[in-house]
Amino acid sequence: MQIRIYDTPAQAGEAAALILAAQLIRRPDSVLGMATGSTPIPAYQALCRLYEAGLVDFSRATSFNLDEYIGIPEAHPCSYHRFMQEQLFSHVNLRPEAAHVPDGNAADLDAAARAYDEAIRAAGGIDVQILGIGRNGHIGFNEPGDEFVYGCHVVQLTPSTIEANKRFFDSEAEVPRQAISLGIGSIMNARQILLIATGEDKAQAVRDAVCGEVTPQLQASILRTHRDVLFLLDRGAASLLDRKGA
Ligand code: F6R
Repeated sequence: MQIRIYDTPAQAGEAAALILAAQLIRRPDSVLGMATGSTPIPAYQALCRLYEAGLVDFSRATSFNLDEYIGIPEAHPCSYHRFMQEQLFSHVNLRPEAAHVPDGNAADLDAAARAYDEAIRAAGGIDVQILGIGRNGHIGFNEPGDEFVYGCHVVQLTPSTIEANKRFFDSEAEVPRQAISLGIGSIMNARQILLIATGEDKAQAVRDAVCGEVTPQLQASILRTHRDVLFLLDRGAASLLDRKGA
């Protein structure tokens, strides 16, 4: 595991964008794993700037998002389909058919989850996976629990995640209670993982992930066992790390 600490969230995001851009320059047909939420927005903004500057080309790339809420339309202002359109997909030349987001409205959600993992396998696996982290240590929507779930699956969101995500909705009651998410196995199969964390409210989760025991109660802790994982942090998210220990 490697850790880089930046002064600002914008710099942490820009660092992630540079790594994604370098990946696409080296291998234009790369498979990218995308995240939503507030954290990756600076990375997507930086990627859009690199695209506009003619430095990065998405025309042969494929992307798979981590997760989607269950039961809200794709066009809903808070859906992750819509988020990705607004933050990245509509600004770059990624082919629409190559941009995958789990289907939170599938008639058979378990079948849709299995098909999503299969589509990732068929694409050759994820080359670089972007992650944020929940205040409770979740990655994707893999919530604290008794086990690490391997594949893409339906999850019940915890009160902590509903509380954290209500800022995007008109009220807490509107936050969906379920989501479809890549599993920990699907995430760990990525060849390279970039976890971005910014803000002091992520500091405890980052510390537990970096220094605590590997446990499904803190799902991000398993990232320590991945052979190529890089944490890109701002000073707030890194504020509980002991310089020597980390
Ligand atoms: C989003 C995702 C989540 C978020 C996490 C942090 O696709 O999978 O794990 O990364 O909830 O969200 P923000 O960045 O909004 O703090």
